[in-house]
Amino acid sequence: MKLTSLVLIAALGGLALVGGCVRSKPESTTSSVKFDTGLPMTEFMGHVVDPAAFGFWKGSGTEETVGGTRELAPTTAEGWEALETSAAVLFEAGNMLQIPGRARDPVDHWNKYAQDLSARAAEGKAAAFKHDKQAVFETGAKIYQVCEACHAEYVIGPQIKTTGPAQGAPLPPWPTDLAARR
Ligand code: HEC
Repeated sequence: MKLTSLVLIAALGGLALVGGCVRSKPESTTSSVKFDTGLPMTEFMGHVVDPAAFGFWKGSGTEETVGGTRELAPTTAEGWEALETSAAVLFEAGNMLQIPGRARDPVDHWNKYAQDLSARAAEGKAAAFKHDKQAVFETGAKIYQVCEACHAEYVIGPQIKTTGPAQGAPLPPWPTDLAARR
């Protein structure tokens, strides 16, 4: 009896599988996807990328206080976890940057920066997971370099093209007494 029912179940299962195969036309997994890129890039940077980056950076290095030098690395499990969280947001931000409609031309450069952001954020997350202060510091610097590189190409470059190089005053002149001694 037991055997029979097992066989029956197997047979039914097989049928169900066959039926499933016949019925299910391969459904496009992308047909229902709709990305909403209505959040402007400045908002995305200011409210997603920047807070996550600072959330990660604030957990490494040192700070000079009246009481002496203070280490900024987390001292609690929650603190390390918070660094991991920030790194995870940056990791996903790399994906979000590549969403069609958000990526900018030249799109291959843009996507490379975004992918670098995810890759370095993944390293940062792993470093935080290991509670490795030095690695968190170093990956933080690497993340910063990606921000800078993308901004150089997509923010500062275009600005210079439209408004010319920064018009600000050059450095102030030397005070006369110092200038006399030079
Ligand atoms: C793939 C390119 C890219 C990467 C990577 C990138 N940014 Fe940006 N960021 C931009 C662009 C483009 C703008 C300017 C917004 C615009 O032109 O609409 C910007 C603007 C900003 C702004 C100014 C927002 C405002 O309100 O004007 C901040 C802050 C910022 N980014 C932070 C960061 C930080 C921090 C990182 C790294 C963790 C980073 N960004 C990585 C492309 C990038």
